[in-house]
Amino acid sequence: MQINPDDLQPHEFYRYLVQVITPRPIAWVSTVSPGGVTNLAPYSFFNGVGANPPSVVFAPVNNRHGEKKDTLRNVEANGEFVVNIVSHALAERMNQSAYEYGYEVSEFEHAGLTPVPSSFVAPPRVGEAPVSMECEVIRVIHVGDGPLGANLVIGRVRMMHLAEGVCDAAGVVDPAKLDTIGRMGGADYCTTRDRFPMPRPESPTLGSRA
Ligand SMILES: Cc1cc2nc3c(=O)[nH]c(=O)nc-3n(C[C@H](O)[C@H](O)[C@H](O)COP(=O)(O)O)c2cc1C
Repeated sequence: MQINPDDLQPHEFYRYLVQVITPRPIAWVSTVSPGGVTNLAPYSFFNGVGANPPSVVFAPVNNRHGEKKDTLRNVEANGEFVVNIVSHALAERMNQSAYEYGYEVSEFEHAGLTPVPSSFVAPPRVGEAPVSMECEVIRVIHVGDGPLGANLVIGRVRMMHLAEGVCDAAGVVDPAKLDTIGRMGGADYCTTRDRFPMPRPESPTLGSRA
């Protein structure tokens, strides 16, 4: 079977994309509107993209009417956001925050989450999250117009917060304590509880780190 995206409607090809690019990490993004209303929503078109500068990307796609989501409106207005990492214990509250509330409604209140003031940026972080990254926008790239058109938000990480107990005694993040979840297709999620080690082959010149 082959699929030419040009033969499908955007929402039909979107379904294949999210079914095959799995599992996806979830950025639980907090922002604040120009009027001071906090906003929180999950985004699984998300990843880290580099460490020099320390940078992440996530992609709010246009909604079914071709309009910008609240998160994008806020980052375009003030250039700041926080990426909160979602542990298994927070899965349901993360899901609750994906409900399309009005622009003037704060998902923090509806999902029963604690907004904790950030150090560098105005949007608060999620107090219950195991890790939060305060970010400043480097660039927003509009990839397409209309429904499901992507907007890439590239941000520089200004501060990372790690909850007590997430790192082991040597300061290394313990994946069992982080207990992140991933997004699969449709309504499915996965845990990260089944892991296997596989050291990378060593390059004679670079070693295994590059
Ligand atoms: C786990 C999960 C991942 C999601 N990932 C994305 C995504 O990558 N891009 C996107 O535009 N919407 C994504 N959504 C949908 C948004 O969270 C949803 O449209 C939300 O209402 C947007 O909120 P906002 O308008 O406050 O930004 C996701 C939803 C869930 C539950």
